[in-house]
Amino acid sequence: MDARGPLRIGPLAVSPRLLLAPMSGVTDSAFRRIVRRASGSAVGLMFTEFVSVEALTRDDEKSLRMVRRRAEERPVAVQIFGADADRMVRAAALVERSGADVLDVNCGCPVPKVVKRGGGCELMRQPERLYGILTAIRREVSIPVTLKMRAGWDEETRNAAEIAAVAEAAGLAMVTVHGRTRVQLYHGEADWGVIAGIRRRVSIPVAGSGDVATAADALAREREFAPDAVMIGRAALANPWIFRQVEELRAGEAPVRPSLDDRIDMMRTYAAYLDEDYAPAVVAARLRQFAGRVTKGLHGGAPLRAAINEARTEQAILDLLCRFAEASSGEPVAAAAGDGAAWA
Ligand SMILES: Cc1cc2nc3c(=O)[nH]c(=O)nc-3n(C[C@H](O)[C@H](O)[C@H](O)COP(=O)(O)O)c2cc1C
Repeated sequence: MDARGPLRIGPLAVSPRLLLAPMSGVTDSAFRRIVRRASGSAVGLMFTEFVSVEALTRDDEKSLRMVRRRAEERPVAVQIFGADADRMVRAAALVERSGADVLDVNCGCPVPKVVKRGGGCELMRQPERLYGILTAIRREVSIPVTLKMRAGWDEETRNAAEIAAVAEAAGLAMVTVHGRTRVQLYHGEADWGVIAGIRRRVSIPVAGSGDVATAADALAREREFAPDAVMIGRAALANPWIFRQVEELRAGEAPVRPSLDDRIDMMRTYAAYLDEDYAPAVVAARLRQFAGRVTKGLHGGAPLRAAINEARTEQAILDLLCRFAEASSGEPVAAAAGDGAAWA
């Protein structure tokens, strides 16, 4: 149990203070359900992948699906990205109507296609425009609005504290900072030291993101940098149990080590969830990706992954996993994958 009690995001109480990061192409409803299944109530809030306001306000079916969620996933923050104030506001209203618990505005995406159009991290370079967009969104919706950003655009413009002040002035309820600049993309290390500078400027909660690879990492970041919440991204891709592991470690217990059977069972469940939402080709592609991550670090995992890469259907992938499980029964499962160390 976290002695600090729940994180308050406006009227929403989030407990524990552990967040699943928004990840494009990954944190869809099926994946969030998997995280809930693996980590139970140890994940406090889950973010959707970012959703284009352009597509959303054109009733694009794929984007509308990205906004939907099942009851077991809640609370869920829906993240939007874009640049046009009018479309941002209309998309925000649509997200609220869909029943989202939180609306998150993306100010951190480094992808050229997004920043060239004025969205994502480009918004950090235009604080006045950002303020206009955020206040317009706040006027439109009554659910809490949050923002996710980077440390800055580049080394010369590390302005996350200024952007946090803009967010607070516009009435936002929390900011999350991924401690890399736009120019760094995913290179180098995330700098959690930026949190202290942001704290000096604002009194809304500040969550930290970047490079939490294991449960021990999450607790170390809490101790060292005192963020209001820790967000976990890539480590959860290979290890959806990680949130549970953090809470177990916090309680002084040995963190759960998912067995091979647990992993295979999770992949089957993921396949079933995907089937509910996607066409067979998409299911096979997403399952291939997930199976590739979850089997990293397993004894005999490399040939299995090679075979999975060649498999074209969901059934073929599940058959391979099933045969692998039978052949390896009784073999120890390597620690690496269960600890999320594949990303370290
Ligand atoms: C595949 C992938 C997709 C991502 N998509 C998004 C996104 O849609 N929105 C966002 O704000 N951040 C996105 N991120 C950034 C993550 O939310 C997170 O801030 C970053 O990966 C650092 O945290 P980590 O080291 O725990 O993964 C993405 C990251 C990855 C690896």
